[in-house]
Amino acid sequence: MALTPTTLTPTTLTPTTLTPTKADRFSFGLWTIGWQAKDQFGDPTRAPLDPIEAVHKLDELGAYGITFHDDDLVPFGATAADRDKQLARFRQALDETGMVVPMVTTNLFTHPVFKDGGFTSNDRSIRRYAIRKTLRNLELAVELGAQTFVLWGGREGSEYDTAKDVQAALDRYREAMNLLTQFVTDRGYDIRFALEPKPNEPRGDILLPTVGNALAFISSLDQPELVGVNPEVGHEQMAGLNFVHSVSQALWHGKLFHIDLNGQRSIKFDQDLVFGHGDLFNAFGLVDLLEFGGKPGADGGASPAYTGPRHFDYKPSRTEDYDGVWDSVRANMRTYLILKERATAFRSDPEVQQALAHAKVGELSQPTLGEGEGYTELLADASSFEDFDADAAAERGYGFVRLNQLALEHLTGAR
Ligand code: GCO
Ligand code: MN
Ligand code: MN
Repeated sequence: MALTPTTLTPTTLTPTTLTPTKADRFSFGLWTIGWQAKDQFGDPTRAPLDPIEAVHKLDELGAYGITFHDDDLVPFGATAADRDKQLARFRQALDETGMVVPMVTTNLFTHPVFKDGGFTSNDRSIRRYAIRKTLRNLELAVELGAQTFVLWGGREGSEYDTAKDVQAALDRYREAMNLLTQFVTDRGYDIRFALEPKPNEPRGDILLPTVGNALAFISSLDQPELVGVNPEVGHEQMAGLNFVHSVSQALWHGKLFHIDLNGQRSIKFDQDLVFGHGDLFNAFGLVDLLEFGGKPGADGGASPAYTGPRHFDYKPSRTEDYDGVWDSVRANMRTYLILKERATAFRSDPEVQQALAHAKVGELSQPTLGEGEGYTELLADASSFEDFDADAAAERGYGFVRLNQLALEHLTGAR
């Protein structure tokens, strides 16, 4: 197809559809916009951000929710009076704006006490302390109406194989998770847990490094129905994995309880870039998946595959002042909405539908065996083997490249 100025004019992008509203369910971690940009090599480049200002600013920009670690809101070791005061201010800001807290998480990684982990520290007294800190924060999460409690075990891991008995560590991880699910069940709390995988950083190797590892671990718990995953774009990509595949499998198991959206450019340190500023093509595939579920021809793309918050867990780059921070907040939401528009256009394009049919994408939803068929019937079906012309079947191309080019053209606004 020749690219003319006409074909390059985006037809569906309008200022209205690109303006975030509360109905889009965008949420941000307090630690993201509040990151002062202190890194391994340099001092902070930004002044602290008052959580109250964060609530007001996010509301103004169109987000519906804010999330936090206990220590983001109330500094570690604060007195009970200071804690109460800060929580009251925070609640007031939520009331004034209508902002919600869909998710809460516990910091078991910053304080030096957690240098060898929380739930899986070799030191038993530290494991007991980590569980108590989590229980305290869980009460707060429930009070604020959060539906999801995320657990990112950034310090649960090791640098040296000699120093960690991984099987014992998994026993202790499971012990902690079983206690937490028992606690919410006994108290009648309506909240579920989401484990966040990451392969490494800050530990040399982190336990439950990928979505797949987390899913296998969850199946070994006492109350697996209360535990799902919170996959983060960059964390799977740091391990060289395809995030769309990981999220698809989480959905397939009914375990996508929450999601952390951001950007990552290949296998390197955790970049936590703005959503779409890393692997844009994969981000397009992700939004298409979250918004429309299976491919057309499978479930018809009728309903969203994921209805939870679209949560951004990124770090505004160290180069940015606060204007840049708010620009990055806008960029995350706008990119998501652009990709949603682009995925809609992709799916409704007749040429794409034809390419999908040619590629037999929908045919994969058809069971391999017929109604009531088992191996006896399959063995008796000569057309499936004895009379099957494998060479003839091998000749036909699938046209995947053309299909993917159509996706690229929609993604870039060329169609
Ligand atoms: C990371 C992680 C963290 C966690 C967050 C929740 O970038 O390594 O995403 O940001 O998501 O701390 O505990
Ligand atoms: Mn990250
Ligand atoms: Mn995260």
